[in-house]
Parts: sequence; C-alpha cells; structure tokens
Amino acid sequence: MSQSTIESVLQEKRLFNPPRDFSSRATIGSSQHYEELYQKASSNPEQFWAELAQQELHWFKPWDKILDWKPPFAQWFVNGKINITYNCLDRHLTTERRNKAALIWEGEPGDSRTLTYAQLHREVCQMANAMKQLGVCKGDRVGIYMPMIPEAAIAMLACARIGAPHTVVFGGFSAQALQDRLLDAEAKLVVTADSGYRKDKIVPLKAQVDRALADNGVPSVTNVLVVQRTKEKVSMEPGRDHWWHEVQPEMSGHCPAEPMDSEDMLFILYTSGTTGKPKGVVHTTGGYNLYTHMTTKWIFDLQETDVYWCTADVGWITGHSYIVYGPLSNGATSLMYEGVPRPSNPGCFWDIVEKYGVNIFYTAPTAIRAFIKMGEHLPKARDLSSLRLLGTVGEPINPSAWMWYHEVIGGGRCPIVDTWWQTETGGIMISPLPGVTPTKPGSATRPFPGIIVDVVDLDGNPVEDNEGGYLIIKHPWPSMMRTVHKDPDRFRRTYWEPISPRDNQHFYFAGDGAKRDEDGYYWVMGRVDDVINVSGHRLGTMEVESALVSHPAVAEAAVVGRPDEVKGEDIFAFVTLEGNYTGSESLVQELKQHVVQEIGAIARPGEIRFTDAMPKTRSGKIMRRLLRNLAAGEEIGGDTSTLEDRSVLDKLRS
Ligand code: WTA
Repeated sequence: MSQSTIESVLQEKRLFNPPRDFSSRATIGSSQHYEELYQKASSNPEQFWAELAQQELHWFKPWDKILDWKPPFAQWFVNGKINITYNCLDRHLTTERRNKAALIWEGEPGDSRTLTYAQLHREVCQMANAMKQLGVCKGDRVGIYMPMIPEAAIAMLACARIGAPHTVVFGGFSAQALQDRLLDAEAKLVVTADSGYRKDKIVPLKAQVDRALADNGVPSVTNVLVVQRTKEKVSMEPGRDHWWHEVQPEMSGHCPAEPMDSEDMLFILYTSGTTGKPKGVVHTTGGYNLYTHMTTKWIFDLQETDVYWCTADVGWITGHSYIVYGPLSNGATSLMYEGVPRPSNPGCFWDIVEKYGVNIFYTAPTAIRAFIKMGEHLPKARDLSSLRLLGTVGEPINPSAWMWYHEVIGGGRCPIVDTWWQTETGGIMISPLPGVTPTKPGSATRPFPGIIVDVVDLDGNPVEDNEGGYLIIKHPWPSMMRTVHKDPDRFRRTYWEPISPRDNQHFYFAGDGAKRDEDGYYWVMGRVDDVINVSGHRLGTMEVESALVSHPAVAEAAVVGRPDEVKGEDIFAFVTLEGNYTGSESLVQELKQHVVQEIGAIARPGEIRFTDAMPKTRSGKIMRRLLRNLAAGEEIGGDTSTLEDRSVLDKLRS
C-alpha cells in the first residue's frame, strides 16, 4: 500500500452495523450466538472443529484423533475416511437439491450453461472414469490448465473423486511456467482445452501444453485430455492426446467416490514466495473440506435459494475454495464466469448480476477500483437489487473503494465481508460474519471462530494495540497447508522460523504486516517480504528478476512494487545491461515480452528503467528499500549510510 493509503486507513473511524433486516435472516444473526461460538472455539478449538466435522460432513469412517500436532506438521481427523466429492455431490442427490443448479456458467462470447447437481455428478463421474482409463491411479498428480469453463471444475472434482491430487495452473501462465509446475508435481495427465477466450482474444492453451511437453519436457506426462472450447485448430499427438468430447460418450456416469484418508493430498497449488521458484502448497482432504465448508456457510451466509458468485479464476486458491469446494459442499448455486471486464464490455459484471439475480458477490479490490474509474453509470444502468452481501479478497481495500462498493454496488444495504487469507491458509481466516460483525472500511475485522491470531514483533512479543507488527497464527487450523511439495524444510523455514517459538508455542508467519485496534479489529497492511501483489495476483520479485536475467541483454535486475491506483501495486524493474547492449525503447518492449514468455502476462513489468549500477551495500546486497522509494517517486527515506557508492542514487534519480 502507498503511504497515503496507509494513512487514510489508519484514520478510518466509520462503523457500519449489520442491517437489521440482514441479521434477522442470517445463519449467525445474533451477537449472543456469535459470542457463544467464539468462546467455545477459543477454549477448545479441537472439540469445536470435531463437532462441526461430525455435523456438517459425511465420513466413510470416523477419525481416531482430532489433531496430531508435531510442529510444524499437523494432521487433522487422523485415520478418518472421507471424499470431498461425496460431500460436494453425492449427498445432495438424495435431497431436493438433486435438480438444483450447482454451477451456472456464463461464457465469454455470451453462451451459457447450467449444470444441476445430478448433471454435475454424472459429468464428474464420466471424467473420473476417463482419467482411470488413461492410467491415472490414486495418488497420481494431474495438471489442469484450463479456461474458466465448467470442465475446469469437473476436472478438479474428477481428480478428487479418484484420489488423484490436482495441480491447477492458471491459464494465463506461460508454457515455461506450466512446465516448471508440471515437473515439480510430476504430473501424469494434463487436462486442457484447445484454447480459451480472454479479453476479446483467443488464447491458445493446447499449443502451450505442447510447448511445455515438447522434447520430453515433462517425462511423467503420458496423456493429455483436451476439452473443445473454441474449435480453434490444434495439433493432436496420436496416443498422447485425446478429445474429451470423443471420450465422454463412452464413459459411464457412475464412479464411486474413493474413500480417502483425511490426510491424503487433495491438491498442490503453486504460489510465489521470496525465492525465484514458486512453491507447491500442499492441501489435504478432511480438514480442507471442513474449513472451506464452514467459512463459506457462515461468512457468505448461504441461504438455500441464493445465487452466489465469486469472480476469481479456478487457477487461484480463491477459485478452489470459494467457487468449487466450499459452495458445492454446501449445496449452493455457484456462478462461474469465463471472462473479465474489458474495454469492449466494461459493464459485463453488472449484466451478469442482473441476468441471474446474483445475491452474493465476491470480488477483488483491484476490480472495484477499476469499476470506480469506469464510472457509476455502468452499475446504475443495471438492476442490482438482488444483491444482499458483498465480499472482497486478495489485497487490502482502501476505505474509499470500500465506500463506493457499499454505496454504488450494495445500495447501502449489503454488508461487506473483507476476507483476509492466503493460498497457504486454504480458507478465510479473518473476516466479518455479516449478520453480527459491525464493519469498518479497510479492516478485515476479527478472526473466524477457532482461529487464533496476533500481531507481534520479530521476537514474537505481542505489540501494543494500534502499533504495527507481523501477523501470525498461533494455533493449527484444519485447512492449513501441510507442507511445501517435496520440500518440508522450506515449509519450516518460510513459515515457522521467522518468528521464534516460545513457551512451546509455534507461530505461523503469514508474511503480512498488520495492526490490531482497540476494538480487537485487524487491519492488514500488505506484504513485508519480497512478494508483491499486482491486481490481487501474488508475484515474487525474485521470480521476475530471474525471468529478466535469463535474457541475454540483462546483467542484473532488481524488481520492486510501485503503488498503482488500480492494480494496488505494479512491477517496476531496474535493469543493468551487459556491456555490448544499450538501453532503448525497443529493448524495453523486448524485455517486457520476455517476462511474459517466461512467466505470463500477469508478470509484465509496468516499467523498466536501465541503470549503470544498482544501489548496493558494502556487502553487495541491493538496497531494495531505496529502489522502492525511487519507483514510487518518493524521497529516499531512512538510513543510507550503508550504501557503497552514493553517486549511484543521483544517477538513478535522473
Ligand atoms: C493479501 C489470496 C489485505 C495478503 C486469498 C496475503 C489481503 C496475500 C487480503 C495472499 C485482505 C489477501 N486484506 N490483504 N482481505 N486478502 N491479501 O495466496 O498480502 O493469492 O498474504 O491468496 O494476499 O495471496 P494469495
């Protein structure tokens, strides 16, 4: 966040009580109910989760032990047997939900499809059977590289049905990024589409898969299942590549849900950290099912007839937890949209809200800021009266964007749930419960019942109210990540060592700065590490630097985040060139394109500045803090005495 935004957040004093109308119908609508839950959860979190797990989920076999905690490794519902797709599908089929819409899908060119629970169950079973026929066994990993079409969710559920962990790779990632992830996960099968629609363009997906797999690029992959979306011409390799529409009719619509151990891996999702290499965040079955189920139920206050819409992509954790698993486990109607707002159709979100009578709408602050820019006339031209609850996720929301969302989109009547969480946490950790929690613009308010958080200094000492510090989580929770795929050491180092354990308590370090106010409300300020948040997408500065230095012209690169009005942060790269190159506008373009090729369009630097030298300490470390100041056009702040060569700064300024 920029300095001015932080200041406006810190001065924020407005308080919005849940509308009486909303509370009277909410699942958790009285403060007394909330306090009871909260007390129960804090005094004995394990018992709290166990009761809910029993009440809310179907288990093939009960667990022997609620929690086995050998820090930093947790196991929840030890020896319990469960299948998340049984909870998301089968159990609804014997109820009046059988013919209820599970997924409503709105395609980018305006086509649409609705799948009832019975239909979704059938297609998931068919794809699960196809996967089996292609040799996928329990435990094998499957890569999913898809546009936002129902088959993306179907593929995830098909994997979960047979116990094959999925790794969804966002469709905007490049062939190189896809290859890196498939290699690390040692995927056996890739599910993809011919291509997808994105911002009025057709983006090739199968061609990227071909590139990633070329020359035995990912030796573990033996088959590719291709969904036909755009009917663009693609090349199909005999023996390896199979069209889903040719395979599907042959497949039975019955496939029993494999009883999985509660701790069997459900998925790996790669996310950016502070090193050049994204890490594979591992989530398991039982605890993740429970936690995403409960948070969806209480935070989004799902009612039986609601149309719920989360605008994320299934390539990110938000899509996993709050488009697919959480809503379906609750038997909700989850809307999926293939597109994103774009200049040729800036009002598309409001068209969809009106068309389907969306009741619950969950999006990112960056989208809200983009809408503010596009103007009020767009939402005002649509009937948004069906909306009753709004949510945000992905980055801090500035109070003025919160107010706009509240007034223009919510008509002043919809509570807003500002939800703080991470790929690693699996589900929402800090958020209002909309029927009971008074909200303050810019604050994610209080932790979910059973979640124990604090703000501390680097030694783990709690800081005073209203003083900034590091956000930590003090007790294991059911959907916590279990490890970094194939790298348990990195898991320990990254999350459990930055704040030293004390009194035998281990603290999960979230990587975010935060403060708690006198009402016990949390205000998350943004990352304190080398992770930047561009339009709600997490990127490691080192990842972008590695991409830049892999270009022959680049000798050294330093990447920082620069505050951006719409994107939150934008990528600013300082680059020194190899001796025989000189900086030019065409080289800037070439380098930007190079990063797109290495990572994907989400990592395209907003600005590249050439420099002869980087500001370094005497021990040779780049002083990023100074670069951040420079990128933001701010005065250089703080101590510069450790700088090796002060003239570098003057040159960089000019
Ligand atoms: C940021 C997305 C402030 C934060 C679910 C976190 C937020 C990172 C909020 C995780 C919020 C997410 N307020 N910051 N409500 N939600 N963040 O893994 O910096 O893509 O660490 O998960 O996003 O991003 P990730």
